[in-house]
Amino acid sequence: MYIVLVASECAPVAKVGGLGDFIQGLAKELQARGHRVELVLPKYDSLRYDLMPDFHKLETQIWSPCYEENVPCNLYAGSVEGVHCFFLDPQSPHQFFNRGALYGQPDDAERFAFFSRAVLEFLISTQRQPDILHCHDWQTGLIPVLLYEAFQASPLQHSRACFTLHNLGHQGVTGDYALRLVGLNPAVLMRPDRLNHHDNRGGVNLLKGGIVYANFVTTVSPHYAWEIQNTELGMGLQPVLRTHSNKFGGVLNGLDYSVWNPATDPLIAQPYNAEQIAEKSRNTQALRDKLGLQAAHKPIISVVSRLDWQKGVDLMIHALRFALANDSQFVLLGAAMDKDTERRFIALQGEFANSPDCRLVLEHNEALAHLFYAGADFILIPSLYEPCGLTQLIAMRYGTIPIVRKTGGLADTVFDANYSEQPFEQRNGYSFDEMTLLSLESALRRAIGLWHEYPDYFQQLRLNGLHCDHSWAVSGQHYVNIYEHILATA
Ligand code: ADP
Ligand code: GLC
Repeated sequence: MYIVLVASECAPVAKVGGLGDFIQGLAKELQARGHRVELVLPKYDSLRYDLMPDFHKLETQIWSPCYEENVPCNLYAGSVEGVHCFFLDPQSPHQFFNRGALYGQPDDAERFAFFSRAVLEFLISTQRQPDILHCHDWQTGLIPVLLYEAFQASPLQHSRACFTLHNLGHQGVTGDYALRLVGLNPAVLMRPDRLNHHDNRGGVNLLKGGIVYANFVTTVSPHYAWEIQNTELGMGLQPVLRTHSNKFGGVLNGLDYSVWNPATDPLIAQPYNAEQIAEKSRNTQALRDKLGLQAAHKPIISVVSRLDWQKGVDLMIHALRFALANDSQFVLLGAAMDKDTERRFIALQGEFANSPDCRLVLEHNEALAHLFYAGADFILIPSLYEPCGLTQLIAMRYGTIPIVRKTGGLADTVFDANYSEQPFEQRNGYSFDEMTLLSLESALRRAIGLWHEYPDYFQQLRLNGLHCDHSWAVSGQHYVNIYEHILATA
């Protein structure tokens, strides 16, 4: 098959969170299976150009509409972890992708609406006719819409669209100008069963567009697939998802085991595997040294996260104080997603600046993240909701035990040491149901107690996690099956 993945992120060149990891991992897996795979991304000024030695400009230029104008776009190419990637660079005064950051601009909807149409123009101009266009999140939600509403008489008429929902907390709700920008007719699309946002009559919902028009829709774990159809976690999209349930399913994300592998990871202090798990303690030492923590006989509870309300920041902060009061160390690596949260964490950072048992690092730091996974004993993920979550999967791969709120993909992958119905060998962490301090404390108390009082059992739980298989092999096959299904039923 010829598969083109279109997204706003791809690790390691453009990564804000798990979407970047996902695109990189799935692309590599599909390519390894012998499919022809290409990626298309915006050419952000903040791309990690240093990681693409073969990055170059192509001679071709394409044109794509932006309201009444036709905007020229330069094309660039480079390989990302061995996968061929194209980057679109619009030449307009808007400077859509020269903003120093991927998201958070007032005109985000216009930036990515423009990108969505330009991707299709790029495919046509360069005579590409992929079997599958796999699009991700609201940023590319207009692609399935355009494919059906505007490109049926084009060489792309046989291409099929798969659309993956990574996070319903971001739906791309905007005005109907986003439709006009790309040449779509608002009169046709502003209907409740199409792109009209559920609680805003004048609003366009770009994510909903992808759901309604794609040939198949997935989300990133089976439990989240259920939650968003049946609970308020659907954030208003429950009826649409139920209407389209015959083309919707949850596929658990995989993890790129060549990137996340404690036996070969160049970013950690000492490699190790399940057989030499004792070597992990050298990474614990390295993490303490790096952060200036005392070498105490205490477990290290870690957080590696975007600092966003989705991730349960109040519970994180409570856990910090609880851990320090209960014979533990606490380390956090996180980049705040808004100014208020940033201020809160800077204040905490100041409060604990002299603590020998606590350190907060408030930035996005890929290398340090690896040392956190390798050095910590536990990772805390108290999310309000979590479509899949990769940090618990990475942590387990590094023998670090997850303590999670039982929601979304966390519920599908973390099985409580004491209360799970799974056989013992499959229990791999701690989980709590309620979004309350009491619930959180109960899980933390059990985890800390295990470390102090039952070291053998702690080691066993750690190994259970290490032995889980979350490689892309299984999920890659699911996606191939979906692609084949939508090609066959075209
Ligand atoms: P989300 O996509 O919602 O942020 P995921 O758990 O799916 O959550 O993925 C998070 C990814 O981002 C993981 O690869 C994690 O290691 C990484 N990450 C999160 N915060 C940081 C940080 N401050 N520094 C480095 N990596 C981070
Ligand atoms: C989103 C979700 C996260 C998921 C990631 C990759 O960012 O918040 O749970 O793991 O996408 O699918």
